[in-house]
Amino acid sequence: YRTKRNLYELMHDIAQFYRQQLPLNIPAQSYLQQRGLSPEVIERFQIGFSPNQFGGLLAHFGKTQEDLKKLFDLGMLSRNDNRDAYDRFRNRIMFPIRDRRGRTIAFGGRVISDEKPKYLNSPESVTYHKGNELYGLFEALQANESPEMLLVVEGYMDVVALAQFGVDYAVAALGTATTPEQIQLAFRSTEQVVCCYDADRAGRAAAWRALENALPYLEDGRQLKFIFLPDGEDPDSFIRRYGKAGFEDYLNNAQSLSDFLFSNLSAQVDFSSKEGKTKLAALVAPLIKQIPGEILRLSLRQMLAQKLGIFDQSQLENLIPTQTENTGKTYKAPTV
Ligand code: CTP
Ligand code: MN
Ligand code: MN
Ligand code: MN
Ligand code: MN
Repeated sequence: YRTKRNLYELMHDIAQFYRQQLPLNIPAQSYLQQRGLSPEVIERFQIGFSPNQFGGLLAHFGKTQEDLKKLFDLGMLSRNDNRDAYDRFRNRIMFPIRDRRGRTIAFGGRVISDEKPKYLNSPESVTYHKGNELYGLFEALQANESPEMLLVVEGYMDVVALAQFGVDYAVAALGTATTPEQIQLAFRSTEQVVCCYDADRAGRAAAWRALENALPYLEDGRQLKFIFLPDGEDPDSFIRRYGKAGFEDYLNNAQSLSDFLFSNLSAQVDFSSKEGKTKLAALVAPLIKQIPGEILRLSLRQMLAQKLGIFDQSQLENLIPTQTENTGKTYKAPTV
């Protein structure tokens, strides 16, 4: 326990170190300026800079063997072929990733030129389990401890830009797939989760994955929605172009789960043919079955029945039993 607390303290000190480096590096400062980040938002997200040195952290935090071990355990150091330790993050804008309680648990680092990789992230460590965390959740809960909704976006810059424009309830899954754990985490703090990924092929695939992963957490009262931005935009570029009002217009027209579900499948399946209907049923039934919320499950089931032209209750019952696989709870079957 003492060691783990020491690790959090060390991560905090490292974040402070990176913050102190930012004003000392002119290219880093002008990069952030060019991206349009305000001093307030840089402060709010504790954004820093890792100097272009192989021994920056080593010199400050790696004096003893014990210190070195901690830095390795935290994923802050790498080793070369000669087994020499060196700083993992160099010459990058540093985004501290904090847990819900505000403890710094990892970092994401972005290059300030067009080198590759664009982002480098902390590896899994004692403090950091990537799939269990949402970047920006601490900051969002600081602004409002029970937000009406949380927006899930792809990247650091999306969260930061949205916050700067007053949309202070965005979090990032960091990587394309939003895990079931991340969805569960978001639903611990709000009843409404709105996914807003980049308007590209990867983003659309990510939205579908999020839908699939969210199904077991959709209790009644909870809502999952989707925003699809104009082609090529991400939330950062969009809000800089159209402002908060433009973004909120989009938000107000978010697609419901059922809209997204059926519209996405209708692109793959011809509902009018007999084969199409069979295929639709085969695709949708296993998804609906996972939903614990009875009202949502019932309404999706009715929408499916309508699309299939099924009016026979027992036929529908065969397709999607009224008993859910998820909770074992039952509800009274409707008379269709
Ligand atoms: N990402 C990553 N490693 C990469 C590229 C992306 O970990 N090589 C993660 C980052 O968390 C990034 C997110 O995926 O923020 C979204 O990627 P992308 O859309 O490519 O980047 P942006 O966030 O839009 O970054 P920027 O606007 O700074 O180019
Ligand atoms: Mn893990
Ligand atoms: Mn992208
Ligand atoms: Mn992006
Ligand atoms: Mn971007």
